[in-house]
Amino acid sequence: MSTDFKGMDVVSIRDFSREQIEHVLRLAEKMVPIAKGEERSVMLEGRILGTVFYEPSTRTRLSFESAMSRLGGKCLGFGEPKISSVAKGETLADTIRMIDSYCDAIVLRHTQEGAARLAGHFARKPVINAGDGAGQHPTQTMLDLFTIRKEKKKIEGNHVVIVGDLKYGRTVHSLSEALAMFGAELTFVAPPNLQIPKEHLKAIEAMGHKPKISSTLGEALKDADVLYVTRIQKERFPDLAEYQKVAGTYRIDMPMLKDVKSDLIIMHPLPRVGEIAPEVDETPHAKYFEQAFNGVPVRMALLGLVLGGLK
Ligand code: NCD
Repeated sequence: MSTDFKGMDVVSIRDFSREQIEHVLRLAEKMVPIAKGEERSVMLEGRILGTVFYEPSTRTRLSFESAMSRLGGKCLGFGEPKISSVAKGETLADTIRMIDSYCDAIVLRHTQEGAARLAGHFARKPVINAGDGAGQHPTQTMLDLFTIRKEKKKIEGNHVVIVGDLKYGRTVHSLSEALAMFGAELTFVAPPNLQIPKEHLKAIEAMGHKPKISSTLGEALKDADVLYVTRIQKERFPDLAEYQKVAGTYRIDMPMLKDVKSDLIIMHPLPRVGEIAPEVDETPHAKYFEQAFNGVPVRMALLGLVLGGLK
């Protein structure tokens, strides 16, 4: 598979080989000083990124905007469909066709699974999926892999425990398959009705892995190298009563960390709503804020690749 990404849509992590992801991670490493503002770049000067967000976002949208600005480019778009013609009933296809003519690449977050793939059909410019309902979140996965590799030196062989809402959590859907592709060992911890969907489990098993499935953290936590915590995705529950039954099931606090490996890292795509006690932030295990920063260099690398500034 080629590492020439120019013009390519970024919709699902399945669209990428391990070699391609490694290429993104290597380039992202080189972007860190620019992402921190220590070095300047005009690589994407004159280029415009459209950011089209139909769902709330803090990190994803702002880190894309930061990445584009740090490379000398500009952004336009909306983070709130109520202020665009979407509120007047405009279809996704029409909105995308228009924005496509105003910019050089589009970052889309949408409530519906499959929306980014659909947008890719209507846009001539590259479409980057920033989360499609309970579907995929490929750029989050790349920054998650970047974080694990940075903290652990490699991804292969690490025992990654993923806990929380594995059914509706799109970050988990993309990340679990990528981790299997990179040779990590996986344990999925969730209430039975929020476990990892069969589709992803089958894909992971097809890569020769046998992930552990559990509803309790207990034993898995003692042996974990990476703990990836996720939010219960309240907005995806068809019935609020069902959400209330599982809300607050898992909360990582200081007593839980008593017997963990000293070099365990704790990650979270954020936002957290009580899954990790604030005291944990002060421990050397906490890496979620570094993880959020890593979104900038990783998205810089991806933008450089799809817009053709990087090879
Ligand atoms: C995640 C998302 O939107 O899927 N957030 C993010 O992009 N960092 C996770 C979540 O909302 O729980």
